[in-house]
Amino acid sequence: MTVKRKLRLGAVIHGVGSSVSAWRHPEIQSDASINFSYYQGQARKAEEGKFDFVFIADGLFINEKAIPHFLNRFEPVTLLSSLAAITSNIGLVGTLSTSYSEPFTVARQFASLDHISGGRAGWNVVTSPGEGAASNFNKGAHPDHSTRYEIAEEYLEVAKGLWDSWEDDAFVRDKESGVFFDPEKLHRLNHKGKHFSVAGPLNIARSKQGHPIVFQAGSSDSGKNLAAKTADAVFTGHETLEEAKRFYADVKRRAAEYGRSPDSVLIFPGIGPIVGRTAEEAERKYEETANLGSIEDALQYLGRFFDHHDFTQYPLDEPFPELGELGSNGFRSTTDRIKAKAKEHNLTLRQVAIRSTTPRGDFIGTPEQVADRIQEWFEAGAADGFIIGSNVPNGLNDFVELVVPILQERGLYRTEYEHDTLRGNLGLSFPVNRYAKQPVASGGSESAKR
Ligand SMILES: Cc1cc2nc3c(=O)[nH]c(=O)nc-3n(C[C@H](O)[C@H](O)[C@H](O)COP(=O)(O)O)c2cc1C
Repeated sequence: MTVKRKLRLGAVIHGVGSSVSAWRHPEIQSDASINFSYYQGQARKAEEGKFDFVFIADGLFINEKAIPHFLNRFEPVTLLSSLAAITSNIGLVGTLSTSYSEPFTVARQFASLDHISGGRAGWNVVTSPGEGAASNFNKGAHPDHSTRYEIAEEYLEVAKGLWDSWEDDAFVRDKESGVFFDPEKLHRLNHKGKHFSVAGPLNIARSKQGHPIVFQAGSSDSGKNLAAKTADAVFTGHETLEEAKRFYADVKRRAAEYGRSPDSVLIFPGIGPIVGRTAEEAERKYEETANLGSIEDALQYLGRFFDHHDFTQYPLDEPFPELGELGSNGFRSTTDRIKAKAKEHNLTLRQVAIRSTTPRGDFIGTPEQVADRIQEWFEAGAADGFIIGSNVPNGLNDFVELVVPILQERGLYRTEYEHDTLRGNLGLSFPVNRYAKQPVASGGSESAKR
């Protein structure tokens, strides 16, 4: 009997939203980005919708031009740890940059989150696109794109090595004999590489998932290679089905080239569904949000992807300016896409700015229309799941209440959690400890789904 492939869903909880002006909407809580009860409510709503995970994005540098959500928001691991206490099945995924942190600390933080949550931790590995972060971390210059990915690769090797410091059954805790741990099941990494020198062992036991789930969010060639080689899942963004299919096939092919099963890397395009009870209501919701901001705000938002480039120097209603390599050392895949789209559709600067600040996307309409589009992308080989973001008020609630039941009725999506770990729900195998002589009974084997 073949088991039908199931759609997976994650929810980005992004406070007052990803745009410059969404916070001004009368139905958006203007302090949402720093309001814990808002995050609690969203996490519970996502869990009610049987989502695989919630995702908290992050960055490490702001200036006055940053979008409102970036100016004043929670640090992800801290936030996720407290969300762990008020949820029971949903995965907890947060961004942490490999360019501005130490693998020992971060491996320990995510292992702790995995223990605290009973096996629901996920780490979105990013390399930090913005130049500004260097000024906050005692670093002279922001490492260039390829160096950042080289660092990230070694960093992950170290983190995964540290997560194997203790075999699954290393802690004996036998009060009678006084044996707290089995010394043969304790392993030092002794890593000495180009960027890191880390002896280990990690001062926390292996967690329920073995390794917390590793997500990766870069879509450039180096990003795709890192994902294909080391990640369990990938966040990406695409405007068209064709583009998403190409990306999907590309990452799966690269995974196979690294000797991995293509099913061991799950692809999650980010989408921003706008759901109305009627198509007109959905359009109205989009228009209301798109018209909240000024063109100056939109230009500033666009500039963020291009190292805070000042776009006010160009005429608004003429073709998008020629920018050469500008933006290639930061958000490369995003800036390449913006440049290509502008050329392809002959867009003016004004059009590019409004599209970037308030993406309309393909996932707008009635609940059936949105469910149709999700099904189409899923079945066409463009996605293993989606990460749902929202810039309109009550976006996640609408999605859970109106779209999820349709996906469930169609047999595409779960009606109950299958497991209590993120790894189990995502259908990913348990990573056997590299030092284990044989699979331990309670730790599971390579094929065991946790
Ligand atoms: C869906 C998605 C989510 C991302 N989330 C974050 C994030 O939370 N923090 C961050 O610094 N970068 C984030 N990024 C940026 C990437 O990690 C990466 O740094 C950027 O896209 C540039 O790398 P690239 O040229 O490989 O795409 C995200 C990118 C995508 C596509």
